Amino acid sequence: MQRVPFVCGNWKMHKTVSESIALVNALSSRLTDTSVEIGVAPAHTSLYAVKKALADDRIRLVAQNVHEAPRGAFTGEVSMEMLLDVGCDYVLVGHSERRHIFGESDELVAQKVRTVLAGGLRVILALGETLDERKQGSTLMTVRRQLTSGLEGLSEDELAKVVLAYEPVWAIGTGLSASPDQAQEVHRALRTQISDGWGSEASTKLRIQYGGSIKPANAQALFSQLDIDGGLVGGASLLAEDFADICEAALT
Ligand code: PGA
Repeated sequence: MQRVPFVCGNWKMHKTVSESIALVNALSSRLTDTSVEIGVAPAHTSLYAVKKALADDRIRLVAQNVHEAPRGAFTGEVSMEMLLDVGCDYVLVGHSERRHIFGESDELVAQKVRTVLAGGLRVILALGETLDERKQGSTLMTVRRQLTSGLEGLSEDELAKVVLAYEPVWAIGTGLSASPDQAQEVHRALRTQISDGWGSEASTKLRIQYGGSIKPANAQALFSQLDIDGGLVGGASLLAEDFADICEAALT
């Protein structure tokens, strides 16, 4: 089965509103092919403006985070209702910076996955091992634990709204990407785990992005692996040319 690759730019805490609009406009005019799904995840402050600037629906709007509660006294947080209101399509959950800098536990990540699905949006669930875990040989144990916890109890219909992003923590923002073989090994293990839990059809449909120092120079080697279905791109997504080149690398 041919899965449609999905390449998403995670802008993190970069770009003002006007810079975000300029970036998405440059990207729209550069992208000609529609056979890859493309997403951008601006800062919350730019979501609404980026949605308005998107002349067509080819580019998905992705939020970088959401609070698990529907509303309330949570200063500085953003709810699902607010993300729906500005026109988001996906929410990124479980990014390593949320897990490791902001202390989000597997349990909290799982709650957020459920919040997003209950709100009717799609989820990009990110997971990945630290350098210590890789050195200790516990990479697969870590990602399997994160997967089990993040997706526990989901129906097949709910799973169909999930995209996984394997992002080794040691590869994020370091310039040190996982090798295509290293990434493929983990992607294969994750797909097998999905097959064990939800059946082979669900696992064949599920898209698993790779993330961690993707650049135009290494994108194609990564994306050509059997179980790698596009990528989650940080630094290189801040330049329209580089990000468009990476999206195009997913075509082949
Ligand atoms: P990077 O970030 O491409 O800058 O390594 C990836 C990510 O954090 O999603």
